[in-house]
Amino acid sequence: MIPDKAPKEDVFHGSEDLKKEAHITSFENYKELYMKSIENPDEFWGDVAKDFFWKTKHTGQFLDYNFDVTKGEIFVKCMEGASTNISYNLLDRNVHERKLGDKVAFYWEGNEPGDELTVTYRELLQRVCQFANVLKSQGVKKGDRVSIYMPMVVELVVAMLACARIGAVHSIVFAGFSAESLCERIMDSQCSLLITADGFYRGDKLINLKLLADEALQKCRDKGFPIEKCIMLKHLSKEAEETSLGSQSPPAKRSCPDLQEKQTGRVKKTRPVPQVPWNPEVDLCWHALVRGASDECEPEWCGSEDPLFILYTSGSTGKPKGVLHTVSGYMLYTAATFKLVFDYQLDDVYWCTADIGWITGHSYITYGPLANGATSVLFEGLPTYPDVSRMWEIVDKYHVTKFYTAPTAIRLLMKYGSEPVQKYKRESLKVLGTVGEPINPEAWQWYYNVVGERRCPIVDTFWQTETGGHVLTPLPAATPMKPGSATFPFFGVVPAILNESGEELEGPSEGYLVFKQPWPGVMRTVYGNHQRFETTYFKKFPGYYVTGDGCRRDKDGYYWITGRIDDMLNVSGHLLSTAEVESALVEHEAVAEAAVVGRPHPVKGESLYCFVTLADGVTYNRTLEAELKKQVREKIGAIATPDYIQNAPALPKTRSGKIMRRVLRKIACDERDLGDISTLADSSVVEQLFQNRCCTAV
Ligand code: WT7
Repeated sequence: MIPDKAPKEDVFHGSEDLKKEAHITSFENYKELYMKSIENPDEFWGDVAKDFFWKTKHTGQFLDYNFDVTKGEIFVKCMEGASTNISYNLLDRNVHERKLGDKVAFYWEGNEPGDELTVTYRELLQRVCQFANVLKSQGVKKGDRVSIYMPMVVELVVAMLACARIGAVHSIVFAGFSAESLCERIMDSQCSLLITADGFYRGDKLINLKLLADEALQKCRDKGFPIEKCIMLKHLSKEAEETSLGSQSPPAKRSCPDLQEKQTGRVKKTRPVPQVPWNPEVDLCWHALVRGASDECEPEWCGSEDPLFILYTSGSTGKPKGVLHTVSGYMLYTAATFKLVFDYQLDDVYWCTADIGWITGHSYITYGPLANGATSVLFEGLPTYPDVSRMWEIVDKYHVTKFYTAPTAIRLLMKYGSEPVQKYKRESLKVLGTVGEPINPEAWQWYYNVVGERRCPIVDTFWQTETGGHVLTPLPAATPMKPGSATFPFFGVVPAILNESGEELEGPSEGYLVFKQPWPGVMRTVYGNHQRFETTYFKKFPGYYVTGDGCRRDKDGYYWITGRIDDMLNVSGHLLSTAEVESALVEHEAVAEAAVVGRPHPVKGESLYCFVTLADGVTYNRTLEAELKKQVREKIGAIATPDYIQNAPALPKTRSGKIMRRVLRKIACDERDLGDISTLADSSVVEQLFQNRCCTAV
């Protein structure tokens, strides 16, 4: 439970200034509202819902659910009977009712300094309507799945909201994923259309996205799932149309109205543009389609529990899970968490550095901020390009007030010291946030002292793709902070810590982090596999949602996430399953068996340490090592590239043949204290592996 009073020792506060305008001004204030949200969720969420437009009102209970597998099917329903449209609430409502039409929705900042665009709420509404009409003209209907594979551009937001407007279900695949991963996701959710772009730059590196998209579609065809339509945005340059497309170019006229407005062409620096393959049977030009489309589009009124989107997250079996979120609950939850966790005020300029291809971008670049009518920075580039001051340059350029990033980015920048930060003023900053993995206290202190100059509270937000929004988090003006702790639950969230036998632990304790009841934003199912949803999250401890994270509660009631307790790894804030990487490795003909463990890494949090047992007669060498690395990149994506590969003639196994990953983790870290290894079948294997450890990353 939440303590009555906040602790006074070993805690940090931001400056007093924030309290003057904050929504939640004190710990007492938080506690009081928290109790209300638990005792009377209908009233609490009912108040949040009042800000939104409902075509028809809900009929049943505000939140109806079963969290107990022993009592039947798991379900969560929020505001059943109500109908609404999320794009209407994010756009039309802000433009027409709240008169925010001229307010900037996004400042788009490209990879290259100087590449920029501004989009107001009115313009965004028009563009979403146009593209919604485009989708309709291509036969996309309510309930259809649309796959989106795009860089960080405004059109990505346009595409997702256009889907939402017509009740289609978007499935965004992070543009860093491989063709194979895209194919797998398209097929799993049976998407009827793909939206992509020609390419983009990450720093100096050109990513030829269309080529990857084509490869994915070919793989789909080969596997008997033809997908007929692919809409391509020309992002890199309008000149690209004339030059590289040549006779294969799309038949439409080649000028592009949305690039001709205030800014002409958004990628100014002359750069090589990709050779874009064009298949007239399948490919459609974004710009040509939009040109003919009306900018008015009546929204499709959706039921509260209609699906909004699918987003894939790693699963411990190796096959990604299509996490499904639905319309109303997700809207209320992202809107409320955005408003209260970042203490959103009308004149804020907010910047979340995540990619929209991850849940953080879905909830806290698109849905939460737009639901509040916020102005955000949408950044395409990297924190280190063209130099390591880029983040702070952007903060000053747009007078960013609320800034949200990942511990891995903080650790990366920390290596360069405070000088690149102090080159810029950062006077506008008021609240800083982190997400993705536990933040080590050293990085926390640097963020707090150097970046925020001890003025800005840090909201360490713990949540998951599955939770839809923040579940454990400080509120910036109300919660005293402890570096490394995600502090307390958000409204409506009831955490508990369980021991191995499933008993709830009271007071200071450590164990499994679970939640006892749903909140509006929790996922509803694994797309196409409800049983997997129940097994993954509800089976181990009936009656609870199991996060898969370990957690400690201290004497003051603060929650500290200790990391994953399943076969998941967190590399730079991205979850990967060991099984996923292992299966990519064993698909190589030289590999007989593979076992992957995490090894702590100073910047990435964890790095991938892979043990491979080779097939008979194969010898290990640098060429094979490079091939294996490439194999994993091609199967999954660059984020899964192994850092270490060790030739392991044999793996430590139990007598029943189960690989002892616990032992492998120790070997990867060169820790000799192995604990109990009495179940090990052959202990000489361990010594052999210790002797042949990889000392340097591959
Ligand atoms: C896992 C979820 C939520 C968006 C980004 C990742 C870890 C996330 C924190 C935090 C400690 C954290 C957990 C969680 N995690 N935020 N503030 N402190 N751990 O989404 O890919 O679904 O990963 O990330 O292990 O279960 P995701």
